[in-house]
Amino acid sequence: MCGIVGYIGSKKAAPLLIEGLKRLEYRGYDSAGIAIIGNKQILTKKDIGKIEEIHKKINLIDLNGNLGIAHCRWATHGSVCRENAHPHSDCSGKIAIVHNGIIENYNELKDKLLAKGHKFRSETDTEVIAHLIEENYNGDIKGATLKALKEIDGAYALGIICSDEPDKLIAARNESPLIIGVGKGENCMASDVPAILKLTNNVVFLDDKELAVLTKDNFKVLGLDGKEIKKEITKIEWNAEQAEKSGFKHFMLKEIYEQPKAIEETINGKISNDDVVLKDIGLSNNEISKINRILIVACGTSWHAGLVGEFMLEELAKIPVEVEYASEFRYRDPIINKNDLVIAISQSGETADTLAALKEAKKKGAKILSICNVVGSSIARESYSVLYTHAGPEIGVASTKAFTSQLIILYLITIYFGKIKGIISKDQIKNRVRDLRKIPLQIQSVLEENKYIKLHSKYFYKKANALYLGRGINYPIALEGALKLKEVSYIHAEGYPAAEMKHGPIALIDKEMPVIVMATKDDRTYKKVLANIEEVKSRGGIVIAITSEGDKEIRKRVDHTIPIPQNSYILSPILAVVPLQLFAYHIADLRGCDVDKPRNLAKSCTVE
Ligand code: G6P
Repeated sequence: MCGIVGYIGSKKAAPLLIEGLKRLEYRGYDSAGIAIIGNKQILTKKDIGKIEEIHKKINLIDLNGNLGIAHCRWATHGSVCRENAHPHSDCSGKIAIVHNGIIENYNELKDKLLAKGHKFRSETDTEVIAHLIEENYNGDIKGATLKALKEIDGAYALGIICSDEPDKLIAARNESPLIIGVGKGENCMASDVPAILKLTNNVVFLDDKELAVLTKDNFKVLGLDGKEIKKEITKIEWNAEQAEKSGFKHFMLKEIYEQPKAIEETINGKISNDDVVLKDIGLSNNEISKINRILIVACGTSWHAGLVGEFMLEELAKIPVEVEYASEFRYRDPIINKNDLVIAISQSGETADTLAALKEAKKKGAKILSICNVVGSSIARESYSVLYTHAGPEIGVASTKAFTSQLIILYLITIYFGKIKGIISKDQIKNRVRDLRKIPLQIQSVLEENKYIKLHSKYFYKKANALYLGRGINYPIALEGALKLKEVSYIHAEGYPAAEMKHGPIALIDKEMPVIVMATKDDRTYKKVLANIEEVKSRGGIVIAITSEGDKEIRKRVDHTIPIPQNSYILSPILAVVPLQLFAYHIADLRGCDVDKPRNLAKSCTVE
């Protein structure tokens, strides 16, 4: 899981590459490097650490040349050390390469190449590709790469340069994301859109087993058989500004604050005259009426969205739902029937486990509807149809606005399916749509509580553990609140259904244990939750309750309250999660954690 970027044009490549690379740092940040062709020679700089730290040490932008590649690494094969950092090169030093992915047959290839006398400098799978290209090189880097790729099994997004051909940048993709940015008198390539937005908004999404040859003025996409493939240019609506922090201390905070806007964007075009209209659903009314069961596959925060979706779909559309971890789904020979629908949820659209689960379901004949944020991503393209969240780029590793936007899409799908199945009446739809329209302003009012949430955080940032409790549709929110806290602050946190507490976690409660409880009045189990709160209090635990605005009664029973506005029970998770995001953010910030790039995590897990 790494980020790659490449540039060819008339400008000095190094500063552009490093600028782009910084926007990919969410993909990996244990080491970084750059290779430039200057004076017909490859000049390389690389080291371990974050890009800025490396730059301070060895100046990454002073290399002269108009063609180059760069990489930020999240180690998979080989430890974190300078030798394993990319770019890697062949024996002659004439070929340099950056890679995101995993070459599965690299051991076998390495043995073959070692036997032929190739000398390896790193422990990576990537270096094998450089030597394999060298082995096939005969004055034509494109041809040599095509030959090498035929021998490679596994996932790759590659950027390749060769000092004997200083007018070409080679890009190739299989199962790892890669885009080409099409400029005027310059072209570029990258793992993701934000890296190239300063240069161009015109993008070509490479597909699996495609190779592109970029020159200053042109680009050509070929299949691995060498035949040219015509590709469409997509205009990206995000601008570079949207992908920046806009004055916020961290992307995570900025993205939490962007939720009202993101949700408006998500809803945009999907509601008309108090009705839900999902033009992109890609399923006929007949197909929808026949759905017997829905299987939701996802990972991490997207999996939590799936759990909320299960409540929505079962309760309002009366369709049985199963929610599966994508990583488990694929390996247990899942049963998929003719009238099952599989919904894949993924912010990035690149999570390898979700993509693999989707492919497995497809093989078994399932129709796949995906919910993605990144347009043109691998999951989106593998799906039968896609509903985009349109939440804008999410850079902070901890997912926030993508999560609430996913919940909105699940709510819209629920109403739409209920309508087609004749379960939800016109009047009910009208009311549900009205509830939905209140959400952006209601989130705004939760955001206005930020300074109080920050104050509450001061009591807890030195704690070692936290317990999150919720029931019903807010149980997944307890899970999500706990996940947010551990991801960014490294405090151990667990989410539990409140009633399950007595079967184990209650043993952990003492005066050092903060317990965050979802206790809104719209929750059907409100009274039961109050009883759970008593159980915590009588054992000395500290209770922070997410409550309904105006609930004075609960204030007497708990230590801290964070009020949120009331909406329907089904929409309550979208409001309840926001204070938990802010709480996790402030605690992490107070602890001095690197909020946007938590240790060991990556935004987009493109390896299984
Ligand atoms: C990683 C990220 C999480 C994210 C998960 C699934 O673990 O750190 O924030 O929820 O992947 O990502 P996806 O892009 O598929 O939603």
